[in-house]
Amino acid sequence: MKQLIDELYINNTLSKEKILMLLNNLNEENTQYLYMKANELRLHNYNNKVYMRGLIEFTNHCKNDCVYCGIRKHNKNADRYRLSKEDIINCCKEGYRLGYRTFVLQGGEDLYFTDDKIVDIVSSIKSLFDDVAVTLSIGEKSYESYRKYYDAGADRYLLRHETNSKQLYNSLHPNMSYENRIECLYNLKKIGYQVGAGFMVGLPNQTNEDYTKDLIFLKELQPHMVGIGPFIPQKDTPLSMEQSGTVDKTCIMLSIVRLLLPKVLLPATTALGSLSNKGREKGLKAGGNVVMPNLSPTNVREKYALYDGKICTGDEAAHCRKCIENRIRSAGFEVDMSRGDHIDFSAPIV
Ligand code: 5AD
Ligand code: FES
Repeated sequence: MKQLIDELYINNTLSKEKILMLLNNLNEENTQYLYMKANELRLHNYNNKVYMRGLIEFTNHCKNDCVYCGIRKHNKNADRYRLSKEDIINCCKEGYRLGYRTFVLQGGEDLYFTDDKIVDIVSSIKSLFDDVAVTLSIGEKSYESYRKYYDAGADRYLLRHETNSKQLYNSLHPNMSYENRIECLYNLKKIGYQVGAGFMVGLPNQTNEDYTKDLIFLKELQPHMVGIGPFIPQKDTPLSMEQSGTVDKTCIMLSIVRLLLPKVLLPATTALGSLSNKGREKGLKAGGNVVMPNLSPTNVREKYALYDGKICTGDEAAHCRKCIENRIRSAGFEVDMSRGDHIDFSAPIV
């Protein structure tokens, strides 16, 4: 297995068959070696810096019904909320004061937020602060809508592909189309966004064959960011009785993505931190280099319950920033509060 890891480390690519072989045969020792090689590539490209993104969860209304997700349309127990433009701007002001230079606006697919409203919010944030990046994470939209947000100043877009197994995708996403999701990702790239794709780990019936497809797909798409987190059941969803994904499997996926896409921006996700106390630290050591602390107002945090047991549901933004900074430092990394663009988007050194 070490040979396969070395091949991946040197070439940053590996055939489908070899990825599957690696996933099927990893033992404890090889896994540690995999993490070490992933960490080396991250150090080479981004040093030991961990980039901070301020996350603002601005609506938990959603027209979709993803079976794993706590804010799915059919969850009658979800306590729905929307932040006003003023609320969102205030979160950004607080975040800016705390040093954040990237704001991630995330929400369900909420038709209340028309293109005009999103454009207004994005352009207001961009005109208020001249040195911040705005990331949108609001689901599937038309090419034209993505274009409008981009023209309004949005820099990045996160849209996890969730799983590249078409069969699994269809079983989890009623009335959605796998093809459309993939097309959205290519549209976002074409427009010029820094694009984030990604998938969940440990979904019911997900196999190593499925992960292999996810990894090959990411290599093909060449996204700038990849969000990978464990599936965690949410009590009011059809998957409430299923098992969570594991920290170890998630970290293995993070490492392989770092080796396939050495320059990728790779969050140690909140879901990973929610599974175990040291989850995010493990994710960083396995090649992750981004964290996304919560900037949402404390009174809505519990309501953005995609899954159960989410961390930081009651903490002030300032508390979160301090807590996570300490964790990053004690894991041996350095906090970086800059915009933290992907290397290919950073200003050339002159
Ligand atoms: N467990 C883990 N992650 C989840 N997400 C949604 N529901 C869950 C869950 N139950 C993830 C999806 C989505 C992201 C915002 O949160 O991958 O893209
Ligand atoms: Fe929110 Fe630790 S990151 S309290």
